[in-house]
Amino acid sequence: MIKLSRKDPDKTHTDLLVYFAVESTTKMPGLQSTEVKKALKQPWKERDFSGKTDELFFYYPQQISGRGTPAVQARRVLVVGLGELRKGESELREQLRIAAGTAAGKARQLNAKNVSVVLPDITGLASADVAECATEGLILANYLFVKYKKNVPKEDQPKQVRNFTLHDGGMNSRQVRKGMNLGKTAALAACAARDMANEPGNGWTPSAFANFGRKLAKRTGLKCSVLEKSNMKKLGMGGILGVNQGSSSPPKLVILEYATGKKKPTLMLVGKGLTFDSGGISLKPATGMQDMKYDMCGGAAVLAAMQAVAEEKPGNLNVVALVPATDNMSGSAAIKPGDIITHYNGKTSEVVNTDAEGRLILADALAYGVKKYKPDAVIDVATLTGAVIIGLGHHHTGLLSNNDHLSKMIIAAGEKCGEPLWRLPMGREYSKQLKSEVADLKNIGGKGAGTITAACYLQEFVEDTPWAHLDIAGTAWGFTEKSYCSSKGPSGMSTRTLLTLIRNWKALKS
Ligand code: BES
Ligand code: MN
Ligand code: ZN
Repeated sequence: MIKLSRKDPDKTHTDLLVYFAVESTTKMPGLQSTEVKKALKQPWKERDFSGKTDELFFYYPQQISGRGTPAVQARRVLVVGLGELRKGESELREQLRIAAGTAAGKARQLNAKNVSVVLPDITGLASADVAECATEGLILANYLFVKYKKNVPKEDQPKQVRNFTLHDGGMNSRQVRKGMNLGKTAALAACAARDMANEPGNGWTPSAFANFGRKLAKRTGLKCSVLEKSNMKKLGMGGILGVNQGSSSPPKLVILEYATGKKKPTLMLVGKGLTFDSGGISLKPATGMQDMKYDMCGGAAVLAAMQAVAEEKPGNLNVVALVPATDNMSGSAAIKPGDIITHYNGKTSEVVNTDAEGRLILADALAYGVKKYKPDAVIDVATLTGAVIIGLGHHHTGLLSNNDHLSKMIIAAGEKCGEPLWRLPMGREYSKQLKSEVADLKNIGGKGAGTITAACYLQEFVEDTPWAHLDIAGTAWGFTEKSYCSSKGPSGMSTRTLLTLIRNWKALKS
């Protein structure tokens, strides 16, 4: 569905041929086609098109050329404005993703099935990056979930591009291929996370998480193990079991392991796989509750990142992923406010609010994983608190950590892939808010700093391991509207952050 071609783009028969143009008022945009340049001459002069971000110029070359052989063979030509080139590599990378996403959006609107894209040669950005980010933008913007639209008239069905063909625009084609492959792996992983999230609560169950893990392992050679309810009982995972008590579906703890086979550091990923969060006995209000099918987006991101890791097989890092999965329901056996549970590491917790369930299932997974795998670093990803939306809105993922170096690496990874994060503080004062009269901890910390106290809860279960927590409650869906990511559905948030981090992993300073 995406490939490279060395053919002259203007001689390619295709539904849509895409060029990019840099914004400029003084000269013609740096287009690689003299023919398209000709067509742009007047719109440029009239200032109808000057290459501004998302500005489009569009024409039908065959109609223009009349009866002779048309100079451009494509049915349609589209020129997409990149805007003025921004400063900094990450900014430029995002600029390309956005422009490529805009191109894909227009292609879908036109119902173009085969689309050729000429990569722009951009000052300040390596050709591999250009190819990588354009590929990401194209694939992410072409995402579609129509599995349950069965009786919609054909003309109302959303459209999708079938094949993208990249033209290297005169750049080093080996680098372009390398970039395209990176972009493809990352974008398809994020799409896999979106697919999981788009499934409703009765479609994406804890068993679905387990099946995904097993299938991925079978296909790629990762190791998958699934802890069942009986195993959890033996291990004393009171958090997952407690949250699952009100449900009729059994919980699962899905574990995927990628090993380099060498003595390399181990990164442990943990994702909240809450397949539906009703709040439990501390029931949520009805309005908007349907969105709580997305409460498994952390788990989805972690498994999707493992899909990419399994494909790329990095040589520098062992990666283990854990996804505690259950729904949070209010059946007659459900856990009640005031109940006390005992976590895997022996810490007891007073469950004051059954809706603060994410930390309960993560706590067991973190404590178990840290003990069993002795990782060098731990990252958990979770739609953990509504409070993070109050603090950061839908534009930054919340980052909380006990380690400055790890934090910096994650922020840099997020910047590089267009998934921004913002670090919030932690500390003793906040941890104190979790003191219970009757147990070691309670599961809510009162009114203030809800995102921070949730992180403080998790911190109790990672010992001294360098650890970071990503609160994606504001960004997993409803994320900043972008050409390659609709704010309406799930974003696949953090999948690409984790992958970028793994690709660029630098040993933690001790
Ligand atoms: N899954 C929710 C957090 C959430 C809320 C995610 C809104 C996305 C949008 C989590 O389990 C939860 O219910 N948290 C409570 C915690 C509170 C009871 C301390 C919350 O944020 O209200
Ligand atoms: Mn909840
Ligand atoms: Zn939840």
